[in-house]
Amino acid sequence: MLLYLFPLLLTLSLIPFSLSQPPRALLIDCGATVASVIDNRQWVPDTAYISTGTSKHLTQTNLSHTLSTLRSFPLLDNNSRRRKFCYVVPVYRTAKYLVRTTYYYGGVNNQASPPVFDQIVDGTFWSVVNTTEDYANRSASYYEGVFRAGGKSMSLCLASNTYTESDPFISALEFVLLADSLYNSTDFGNFSLRLVARHSFGYNGPIIRYPDDQFDRYWEPYGENNPTSSRGENVSITGFWNLPPRKVFETQFTVGQPQPLELQWPLSPLQLSTYYIALYFADDTGTSRVFNITINGITYYSDLKVPQTGVALFANQWRLSGPTKIILTPAPGSTLAPLINGGEIFEVLRFGGRTQTRDVIGLKSLKDGFQNPPFDWNGDPCLPRENAWTGISCSNGSNVRVIGINLTSMNLSGSLSPNIVNLTALNDLWLGNNSLSGSIPDFSTLKMLKTIHLEDNHLNGPIPSSLENIDRLRELFLENNNFSGQVPRGLTTKPGLNFRFLPGNQLLVPPIA
Ligand SMILES: *[C@@H]1O[C@H](CO)[C@@H](O)[C@H](O)[C@H]1NC(C)=O
Ligand SMILES: *[C@@H]1O[C@H](CO)[C@@H](O)[C@H](O)[C@H]1NC(C)=O
Ligand SMILES: *[C@@H]1O[C@H](CO)[C@@H](O)[C@H](O)[C@H]1NC(C)=O
Ligand SMILES: *[C@@H]1O[C@H](CO)[C@@H](O)[C@H](O)[C@H]1NC(C)=O
Ligand SMILES: *[C@@H]1O[C@H](CO)[C@@H](O)[C@H](O)[C@H]1NC(C)=O
Ligand SMILES: *[C@@H]1O[C@H](CO)[C@@H](O)[C@H](O)[C@H]1NC(C)=O
Ligand SMILES: *[C@@H]1O[C@H](CO)[C@@H](O)[C@H](O)[C@H]1NC(C)=O
Ligand SMILES: *[C@@H]1O[C@H](CO)[C@@H](O)[C@H](O)[C@H]1NC(C)=O
Ligand SMILES: *[C@@H]1O[C@H](CO)[C@@H](O)[C@H](O)[C@H]1NC(C)=O
Ligand SMILES: *[C@@H]1O[C@H](CO)[C@@H](O)[C@H](O)[C@H]1NC(C)=O
Ligand SMILES: *[C@@H]1O[C@H](CO)[C@@H](O)[C@H](O)[C@H]1NC(C)=O
Ligand SMILES: *[C@@H]1O[C@H](CO)[C@@H](O)[C@H](O)[C@H]1NC(C)=O
Repeated sequence: MLLYLFPLLLTLSLIPFSLSQPPRALLIDCGATVASVIDNRQWVPDTAYISTGTSKHLTQTNLSHTLSTLRSFPLLDNNSRRRKFCYVVPVYRTAKYLVRTTYYYGGVNNQASPPVFDQIVDGTFWSVVNTTEDYANRSASYYEGVFRAGGKSMSLCLASNTYTESDPFISALEFVLLADSLYNSTDFGNFSLRLVARHSFGYNGPIIRYPDDQFDRYWEPYGENNPTSSRGENVSITGFWNLPPRKVFETQFTVGQPQPLELQWPLSPLQLSTYYIALYFADDTGTSRVFNITINGITYYSDLKVPQTGVALFANQWRLSGPTKIILTPAPGSTLAPLINGGEIFEVLRFGGRTQTRDVIGLKSLKDGFQNPPFDWNGDPCLPRENAWTGISCSNGSNVRVIGINLTSMNLSGSLSPNIVNLTALNDLWLGNNSLSGSIPDFSTLKMLKTIHLEDNHLNGPIPSSLENIDRLRELFLENNNFSGQVPRGLTTKPGLNFRFLPGNQLLVPPIA
């Protein structure tokens, strides 16, 4: 998709920005250090939403403001593993958001062509980011999708994949709250939408966007300039659930005579998948304009009489692959040619799932207790499965639980949050050979625990006798800490338990019974 480079419009100094309530539109200028106002809308620096990556500045002079800075992420971590890097932003729970990412490479990695990598929203793989062709054409690339907020925050992550050859990066990131009625025939609990194309037909001006479109959707030009006689004044936008901008109805794509009108739309061939299609029509010339619509020869709608107030035709789930040909055929007796004003097509993505909330809460608390948690502990802990957090293993199936934590030898300091009790599916907890201090919280609700490795840390306090009550426990390694007090007798005698507490603790060993 093509986005023209907008000239620099206006730059102002910092404007206070509150995190207390999620904004209706959050516009993030990635890599920027100060806020700016462009077209009367505020762009904020990204530092409040991400803690990894490096801010970079492109030296090219004629770039639009948001493209001139970017944030770049290391291709590989120190263990040569490919990790995700996540922005986390506040949102209204269950609300629908338009998410747009913008990329302009600008040679920042000193490679001839930009890196190709993945983008992820929460637990859902969104798309591959391949800006090669746009970059060769000296333009930026944008991607747009519609996603439902599952919780009070939403994450947008970038991740390397096997085809990634240099450091992933991002130039701009936008989250725009959508009105309830938009795209509401889609079940956003189970699906998301990935924009393929959105066009204003018979229009050849600059991209139509905010403020013409209150949600700042981008309507790209398609075809010759072909103004309608009414210029859209009498089109009833409120009647369109998707609230397209009035400006889309100022032009139309049509033919002179009542004859079939053919469009190759969208322009690029499609991969085999399911698509959401919305076509927009308005006509003020009477009712003699009647036509049928087919897509690749299949009837999409018959005998459409375009009303003056306009009409939108939706298809929720339409299978398509390869090139797409839309034909509008006038009905016999129709004295006027068919016309079309606008169109949107999205690929329907299956929702990738979410890690169970109590596990997410438990891990967040654990992270907050660590002074230097792994850099990739952001976004969904388990999903997509290829992009789980460092050291986290998860259950298969639809109810995704955290079953293992292994941060052995990660140079962690800090303490163990008592909220670890939320991780009730945990089988293995390995935090050995770090610098953790404080005491062991009550693990007795963690009934699934099989192995606990806390050896070689600076933990202190007593060894909780409640550990005796974890039936499945078969390894408990606590040596080389600062534990004190009595070793619970039940642990030394628990059948099948490999229990190590020496050397390195000041413990009173109970007499052998
Ligand atoms: C930006 O400037 C460079 C070098 O001056 C030029 O090659 C390029 O076409 C310009 N890009 C745009 C979008 O104007
Ligand atoms: C890799 O290790 C170096 C030095 O040990 C450290 O500065 C850097 O932050 C590490 N990078 C990642 C991605 O962890
Ligand atoms: C990226 O896009 C270019 C140009 O369309 C294509 O040649 C290349 O194979 C793509 N790269 C990947 C990894 O898909
Ligand atoms: C890049 O430019 C070429 C030649 O002008 C054009 O055919 C192609 O469609 C452009 N690609 C994109 C993604 O705009
Ligand atoms: C979508 O929104 C419109 C306008 O609010 C409403 O009339 C319609 O019933 C909604 N459809 C669904 C499936 O919720
Ligand atoms: C997903 O679809 C199923 C079946 O239609 C429905 O029962 C369920 O509530 C949906 N999930 C969400 C989160 O809306
Ligand atoms: C718009 O509607 C008004 C009132 O119904 C009417 O007077 C006017 O002629 C219409 N304009 C067009 C261009 O149809
Ligand atoms: C339009 O569709 C109707 C219903 O499918 C069909 O009867 C009619 O012949 C079609 N008209 C044209 C011109 O294809
Ligand atoms: C997480 O643990 C805390 C402390 O025990 C508890 O108050 C909270 O209800 C738990 N949350 C969930 C979602 O289970
Ligand atoms: C989940 O499924 C994968 C692939 O089938 C398998 O390798 C892995 O062991 C399974 N994990 C669990 C916890 O069952
Ligand atoms: C945890 O990680 C350590 C070091 O990477 C490894 O030796 C150990 O086997 C892992 N434990 C589990 C349960 O996977
Ligand atoms: C371990 O972390 C501390 C700070 O918490 C840091 O000073 C030290 O350099 C780190 N060691 C390694 C090997 O990364």
